[in-house]
Amino acid sequence: MHLGVNIDHIATLRQARLTDYPDPVAAAGICMAAGADGITAHLREDRRHIQDKDMQQLAAMAAAGELHLNMEMAATNEMVSIAMQLKPQACCLVPEKREELTTEGGLDVAGHQVRMASVVEKLTATGTRVSMFIDPTQAQVRASHAIGAPVIELHTGHFANLGGKARDRELTAIRDAAKLAADLGLIVHAGHGLTLENTPDMVGIAEIEGLNIGHAIVADAVFKGLAQSVADFRAVMAR
Ligand code: PXP
Repeated sequence: MHLGVNIDHIATLRQARLTDYPDPVAAAGICMAAGADGITAHLREDRRHIQDKDMQQLAAMAAAGELHLNMEMAATNEMVSIAMQLKPQACCLVPEKREELTTEGGLDVAGHQVRMASVVEKLTATGTRVSMFIDPTQAQVRASHAIGAPVIELHTGHFANLGGKARDRELTAIRDAAKLAADLGLIVHAGHGLTLENTPDMVGIAEIEGLNIGHAIVADAVFKGLAQSVADFRAVMAR
């Protein structure tokens, strides 16, 4: 199973102070060296975390064979034009609302087939493999297939937030959507809200070939590194 590490929140931390650290591009190198199969980064319209310069540097690393880059983006003219210039190996089309904290739902491919088909065609022509980030419904899977997208990423955010029977129902929906997509010949990824606790549920779905995980990895890294950071500052102060 392919692990794409989403490095957006390294950039979130940097943008909180408008410093030049922590650098998400350096983080990308660390993630690849640590066993990630690829890097995912979302260039948002409001540039709240990843900046154009970051994406350019990541694309240069991708072109040099140093990483596999999955550029997350809204299907806007601006983003399509940037992606066509940068030519990442992969793009994931996501819905975007300015006021949201994170990507809150899947893309309505079924409701915007003509527009989505045109974006998929343009990006595919530059050599980028396009993925549609969708809710796990049969209609969205069929629509993604109908417009010629080679990959779907199933939105696991709702599953991650649910408990009890509702969680079981959402897991079944993800399983069924993954099965339908694979039967139609689509490559299936999943992501959003995945943690060390709920990732095993995704690993149990044979059709899912890749996971994109960000927030929980960055959060986990803070706690795994905090003691060392305090010790390093103590050591400097003791000199
Ligand atoms: N996949 C997509 C399409 C996303 O928008 C995000 C969040 O940017 C992720 C995966 C990663 O989600 P999380 O940060 O919750 O792991």
